[in-house]
Amino acid sequence: TEKSYVMIKPDGVSRQIVGDIISRFERRGYKLVALKTLIPSEELAKEHYIDLAKKPFYGGLVKYITSGTPVVAMVWQGKDVIRQGRRLVGATNPLDAAPGSIRGDFCVSVGRNIIHASDSHESATKEIGLWFHEKELATEYKPIAWDMIMADN
Ligand code: GTP
Ligand code: MG
Repeated sequence: TEKSYVMIKPDGVSRQIVGDIISRFERRGYKLVALKTLIPSEELAKEHYIDLAKKPFYGGLVKYITSGTPVVAMVWQGKDVIRQGRRLVGATNPLDAAPGSIRGDFCVSVGRNIIHASDSHESATKEIGLWFHEKELATEYKPIAWDMIMADN
């Protein structure tokens, strides 16, 4: 099944809501395939958001991601995880994010919106490759309730 790149941004780490965020993906039934903390380099942050390079907020966005507080970089796997991950995260502008979503529950500013999740298969593939080495991904194990959660019959 598909994989998504999900990243708790420095504000999420600083606010100590890492556990809550991870719980939301776990309880939905998604499988944790990789996780690490790191302080992203400017080069990595710029590449991650390269599609936004012409936006007026790009410089500030890169500065925010590379502030010196770590991010939590993760790969989650499971049925429709790219699309559902975006729903768990909520709208880009937290003021448009539904209560119950991560952004809708925890923040109010688009420049401090706590979390990233891949927005397409194409970006998931790119982002997983950018943030992780292939050997860091543990895709082969099966969570205990996997067959029950994934059953579609
Ligand atoms: P990510 O999951 O972080 O990629 O967010 P997104 O996919 O919901 O939005 P998008 O990729 O368009 O923008 C990436 C990030 O840039 C957002 O999460 C915001 O942190 C930031 N951003 C987007 N739009 C604005 C804006 O209008 N102003 C500011 N200050 N930041 C913005
Ligand atoms: Mg995006």
